[in-house]
Amino acid sequence: MQINKKEYKRVTTHSLLEMKLSGEKISMLTAYDFTLAKIIDSAGIDIILVGDSASNVMAGHETTLPITLDEMVYHAKSVVRATERALVVVDMPFGSYQGNSKKALSSAIKIMKETGGHCIKVEGGSEIIESIQRIFKAGIPVMGHLGLTPQSIYKFGTYTVRAKEKAEAEKLVKDAKMLEQVGCFALVLEKVPSKLAEKVAKNISIPVIGIGAGDGVDGQVLVLHDMLGMTHKFNPRFLRRYLDLYTDIKKAVKNYISDVKSQKFPNKDEQY
Ligand code: KIV
Repeated sequence: MQINKKEYKRVTTHSLLEMKLSGEKISMLTAYDFTLAKIIDSAGIDIILVGDSASNVMAGHETTLPITLDEMVYHAKSVVRATERALVVVDMPFGSYQGNSKKALSSAIKIMKETGGHCIKVEGGSEIIESIQRIFKAGIPVMGHLGLTPQSIYKFGTYTVRAKEKAEAEKLVKDAKMLEQVGCFALVLEKVPSKLAEKVAKNISIPVIGIGAGDGVDGQVLVLHDMLGMTHKFNPRFLRRYLDLYTDIKKAVKNYISDVKSQKFPNKDEQY
């Protein structure tokens, strides 16, 4: 298939809209540190998400709930320093925006001021609409996130596909429309049936980026460490692994240990 790709010096929220209108699919990956962000930015990724999945991937927590606003700011600052082309979206962590829209705005302002990120992402629909409106009115672009929203994992009780039932699917369609109307510039749909995701993407004017949401949406996002095969116990059907770095890194480290123990490293050329 021919790849339809316009050159952008810097991807903006406006570029994403252009991509949706022209049919160019949007590529998005997570990053949490300078080194990997530099690599994926130079490869031409459109959006880097400083995801609260850092809670799992970087800190080893079981869920995304424990990560703090200060920890998100630390990760986002490192990613922004590395990025020249991609749009940088920063996840607002659990507890920093639900329930109180003034607190939500001050959390969003902290992210924008201290990290240099370009926009924020929040999970949920009608329940958090006041927070989104207040943040957006302050001039901060907001990305929505519906479907399997990991910050609500204890409400769902399972990481299985969401919105398979009619009532939940109807609420999702309504929430997507509401997010579009209050000014969100894009929407992530996570782990929902592909037909439903396609319907949402066709019925709203903002780009819909899927993770486990099929091929009828406007773009795709994956967690970088999953697609590089650095994590190896997480195997959902939607995940394509492009490398097996868990095996490769382990092999390299074993070789290093063996070289140190057997005094093959360093050799004469590797010293002063
Ligand atoms: O935090 C994250 O990595 C995310 C993606 C799964 C979309 O929200």
